[in-house]
Amino acid sequence: MSATYGRANIVSSFGFCVRWRKKCVQQIDIKAGDAVIDLMSGMGELWPSITEKVRSSGEIKAIDFSPVMCDKSRVAAERLDKFDIQILQEDALKNSLPDESADVVVSTFGLKTLTKEQCKQLAQEVFRILKPGGKLSLLEISVPRFRPLRLVYMFYLRYIVPLFGQMLLGNPENYRMLGKYTEKFGDCSYFGESCSNAGLKVITRKFFFGCATAVVGQKLQ
Ligand SMILES: C[S@@+](CC[C@H](N)C(=O)[O-])C[C@H]1O[C@@H](n2cnc3c(N)ncnc32)[C@H](O)[C@@H]1O
Repeated sequence: MSATYGRANIVSSFGFCVRWRKKCVQQIDIKAGDAVIDLMSGMGELWPSITEKVRSSGEIKAIDFSPVMCDKSRVAAERLDKFDIQILQEDALKNSLPDESADVVVSTFGLKTLTKEQCKQLAQEVFRILKPGGKLSLLEISVPRFRPLRLVYMFYLRYIVPLFGQMLLGNPENYRMLGKYTEKFGDCSYFGESCSNAGLKVITRKFFFGCATAVVGQKLQ
């Protein structure tokens, strides 16, 4: 999806993706000078909100395994050139970040393609790279519990988003996967459980009646 991801995301979510990214960052107290890890960072969509908080004394390390997304994120990093942003083209589940090196771990819209086993692996990685007292906020679109909303939302993801893909971007096939992945992923509860099992103290927060969910918390001191 990397060729059309930015536009498709904004159009098909009616701008909600922008709002939810801000929400993800607002869930935790990020301070000036913090070392922030952005997992599955895409084109650097989260960085404007993060740099506002960490200011020029902080640093962002971004991990994404897609070479195209990394190239696009380099353009975003150039626009934010007074900030320290490093882009690592790596697997978030098995990355080279040192133990206990991050004050904060954030991530948006990267969880839904993970299997249960991969959710466990990611939770363990988040625990490993966070400093004691470090904070996390990872957000993903999710299946709402309220049945009427669930039916409408899942119909939209399954059938209307691929239409947007076809009409506006000439690329329906990849967007068809969005509904499939979201349905399989559910609502972040398994990822939340995996974080607790890994030793993190987390809660889940729902947005827009459960159309997105964040796992938010801390590695205790
Ligand atoms: C839907 S995009 C989200 C991008 C961005 N965070 C955002 O807010 O739009 C998911 C991204 O996760 C990346 N990704 C998925 N699994 C990954 C993994 N195991 N390691 C690194 N990157 C991964 C993909 O390459 C893609 O860029």
